Amino acid sequence: MRTLVTGGCGFIGSNLIRELLSLEDIVSVVNLDALTYSGNPKNLIDINDIRYSFIHGSINDKDLLSEILKDSKIEVVLHLAAESHVDRSIHSCSPFIKTNIDGTRVVLESILERRNSGQKVSLVHVSTDEVYGSLSPEEPEFTEDSQIRPRNPYAVTKASSDLLVQAFVNTYELEAVITRCSNNYGPFQFPEKLIPLITINSLEDRKLPVYGDGKQIRDWIHVKDHCRGIIDAAKGLKSGKVDSGDVINFGASNEKTNIEIVNTILSILDKPINLIQYVKDRPGHDRRYAMGYEKAKSLLGWEPEIDWEGGIKETVRWYVDNSVWVSEIKSGEYLNWIEKHY
Ligand code: NAD
Ligand code: TYD
Repeated sequence: MRTLVTGGCGFIGSNLIRELLSLEDIVSVVNLDALTYSGNPKNLIDINDIRYSFIHGSINDKDLLSEILKDSKIEVVLHLAAESHVDRSIHSCSPFIKTNIDGTRVVLESILERRNSGQKVSLVHVSTDEVYGSLSPEEPEFTEDSQIRPRNPYAVTKASSDLLVQAFVNTYELEAVITRCSNNYGPFQFPEKLIPLITINSLEDRKLPVYGDGKQIRDWIHVKDHCRGIIDAAKGLKSGKVDSGDVINFGASNEKTNIEIVNTILSILDKPINLIQYVKDRPGHDRRYAMGYEKAKSLLGWEPEIDWEGGIKETVRWYVDNSVWVSEIKSGEYLNWIEKHY
């Protein structure tokens, strides 16, 4: 496969590029990234593979996208570029609308244009469990048939982009699959998100902000398992195992409250619980996410492989061992955010 990854300098994108390059049947990987605050070229600094190339640019630039699709003979677009942090979308949703909705429109139109010129290009649109809204503790986990009920600006922009993809499949017969995954953890995550934020603050003996009562639940999956799923979905679409327009959920049956996560990190790092500070809750905070992944299992033979106990220890250790990566990130934009938000 000749692939284009959008947002490849972000957390999941950079892990996905590593996963792609570990596969022999991947002919090329082009990474298009605008290098926003969460995009970090250093996430891929050690990559030395002639199949890989990086282009600094935006998915909102139609001419650039069309040129890349054509010149690099792209067969599959793995679309991850997005504004990804719920709290930022609450402060201001405009960049989310521009990138997540309008940027996806440009990706779709560029693919369609190439398809209409005779080039076969398919799309994996990487989405999130957050489009399904919030579960109560008693409800069963989400399935692909759950209603779309996004409840925060970020989730609304992701749900909108999913619907736009489905409209292009239905109206223009564009070939696409939508993947929806639960909360990812692992190396290279920008430390505005819970796990790296708590790890880094703990290491510095700083307060650990826990929103509300800390009993919100997320279904944590290791980023490598998610990336394998994205690649399986791309291959499934190509081989016909997956129908165009299908939605595929990925999860890990690993539901944890936020306070459990914080306590686990404190215990791995042998730090005291008095660092925990309960702070004002996130407005409209979704209580619980949980993803069923029966469809991924039956269609793709995909299952999560990395167990939580090993995965979280290895992840925390990664942030300890990569103090230079951490300290370089903790400058300008990161400090502004921490100052403004907490
Ligand atoms: P991230 O914020 O770490 O990375 C996003 C990347 O997109 C950055 O490299 C950024 O520079 C790039 N980008 C932003 N705007 C762009 C534009 N206009 N053009 C090109 N590049 C642009 O996010 P992430 O956590 O890696 O998430 C990646 C994708 O996976 C997103 O679509 C997100 O909605 C989805 N997702 C994330 C999770 C999670 O737990 N992190 C779970 C499910 C789905
Ligand atoms: P986050 O990593 O932002 O992911 P998402 O909002 O996409 O689930 O947050 C995970 C959970 O942790 C969420 O319930 C909010 C909570 N949280 C805190 O309690 N404190 C924090 O400082 C952050 C960033 C998140």
